[in-house]
Amino acid sequence: MCGIIAYAGDREVVPLLIKGLKTLEYRGYDSAGLVVKQNNQLGIIKRAGRISELEKSPELGSLNGSIGIAHTRWATHGVPNETNAHPHLDCKKEIAIVHNGIIENYAGLREILKKKGHNFISNTDSEVIAHLIEDFYHGDLTEATINALRCIDGTFGLAVMSKNEDKIVAARRGSPLILGVGDHEMFVCSDAAGILEHTKKVIYLDDNEVATITKENYSISDIYGNGIDKKVHEIKWSIDQIEKKGFKHFMLKEIFEQPDALENTLRGRIKDKNIKLSLNFDIKSIKRIIFIACGTSWHSALIGKYIIEKINRIPVDVDYASEFRYKNPIIKEGDLVIAISQSGETADTLAAIKEAKAKKAKTMGIINVVGSTISREVDSGIYLHSGPEIGVASTKAFTGQVLAILLISLYIEQEKGNKIEYSLVEEITRLPEKARTIFNDTEKIKNIANDLRESKAFLFLGRGINFPVALEGALKLKEISYIHAEGYPTAEMKHGPIALIEKDFPVIFVLNKDNLTKKCLSNIEEIKSRGGKIIIVTSDKELKEIADKIIYVPATKEELSPILNVIPLQLLSYYIADLKGIDPDKPRNLAKSVTVE
Ligand code: F6R
Repeated sequence: MCGIIAYAGDREVVPLLIKGLKTLEYRGYDSAGLVVKQNNQLGIIKRAGRISELEKSPELGSLNGSIGIAHTRWATHGVPNETNAHPHLDCKKEIAIVHNGIIENYAGLREILKKKGHNFISNTDSEVIAHLIEDFYHGDLTEATINALRCIDGTFGLAVMSKNEDKIVAARRGSPLILGVGDHEMFVCSDAAGILEHTKKVIYLDDNEVATITKENYSISDIYGNGIDKKVHEIKWSIDQIEKKGFKHFMLKEIFEQPDALENTLRGRIKDKNIKLSLNFDIKSIKRIIFIACGTSWHSALIGKYIIEKINRIPVDVDYASEFRYKNPIIKEGDLVIAISQSGETADTLAAIKEAKAKKAKTMGIINVVGSTISREVDSGIYLHSGPEIGVASTKAFTGQVLAILLISLYIEQEKGNKIEYSLVEEITRLPEKARTIFNDTEKIKNIANDLRESKAFLFLGRGINFPVALEGALKLKEISYIHAEGYPTAEMKHGPIALIEKDFPVIFVLNKDNLTKKCLSNIEEIKSRGGKIIIVTSDKELKEIADKIIYVPATKEELSPILNVIPLQLLSYYIADLKGIDPDKPRNLAKSVTVE
């Protein structure tokens, strides 16, 4: 959600910033801009649209310097045009800022500053920061920024520069920001991906911290100016993990990476049929689990409820993080609140975890991005190790999350001294290979996508553990192909959605071969008799006759079935979007990592 990169060093900054922005483009892509300190002036270029528009601008060639900041935007306040693109300048064009987040009291501040003679150009909330810093500026950018930040309500990941000083000031509250420590060069970035090719040494800024970087040095303080010592971390990713490696899109690459990603989630966690997790609390004493998450991660939480209630017989609640945070949730002794988040930066999930902690709940995270804010906020947790997920639509993180929940569930049983189902543990180890076989059917799925691409709406149906898979199939389709889709529990269909069915209306059933299959067969007949088109994802070969199209997945244990069943749905959405000419990596109005409310 908005990408920031800033650099101070000896290198030519424009190409470095453009390249960094491209890596960060998945965070927002409606406009972009950069500013460079050049001959003691600020040279600025902004463009509406993607970073390629910025890159094409002829003025770019005339900008040079070795200190600069850049931004790719996901609009909150103000339409995505050139004026509203970042960086924003003060009245004298001597101070430039880029901002990720929302300034909640911007309207009031703007009025005060206008009365003091400041002239505003854009409709953004962010511009107020530049004028506020200008107001406080008496030759020290760090001091002026700190003073300005004390007046601000809301969230920020911020980078600031002045034509008068060879430094960049960065600050965070609620929106992620890291420092990259290089050799005679320093970086500021929204996430590690943007600077990975230059340095793997990073410092994670925490809320209300302000950093000042020059090419040789950095210092960090709180917003009262008190110095803070921070640990330098080493990033474990490699640069090739954030490249497409011959795939047309990151989303397709990430779908295909799932067998490997699942192996990574399992690595070192099953030994001699025992589950090895290092949690720093006594999980066997937990009496209730509350999952909090958003979007796709919320769907894996729903699957988690099925898994944990079945295996552990512990009651599980699943809440949207955005609802949990404001509903004055009831937390009792023995409750464990688990945040599920790919990015570890989702604002609602972070706030929900803080709310849970304020109510003295034990907290845990199931997170993909190492070092992310939520992973540092929770008491304990496990990382997915699925590798960087760049495509806006979450795929490999979802399957990793379901697997991680299953490991936690088995671990609880093991810790309680109960017998765990070894055949399930064995099946887990076979899962990556089973997932791999699904890709043998890629062409078939592509053909089905081609058949269905003009449909105006879809219904996805699943029962039990596959109901959340239906929800996930519908979410994937609507977010990247812009086709309306709904997910429903199969049997619930007759209580309303059946009214939608007419000739050729596509209904996708996600079906395991189990005691509910027969019940679902009646629902299939009900759709068929009204002319609906039946597409079934299943391991059950006997369903061939009843389906218009059938996609087989390998048979597996119920608890693992969502992981295999979702893969054809991800592929189907991907191919429909691609065939419609939509870029599935950057669907309209969306951005990866939602760091605003
Ligand atoms: C959908 C998708 C979103 C995210 C949601 C939560 O494909 O990617 O719905 O799942 O924004 O994000 P994380 O998991 O990063 O907290």
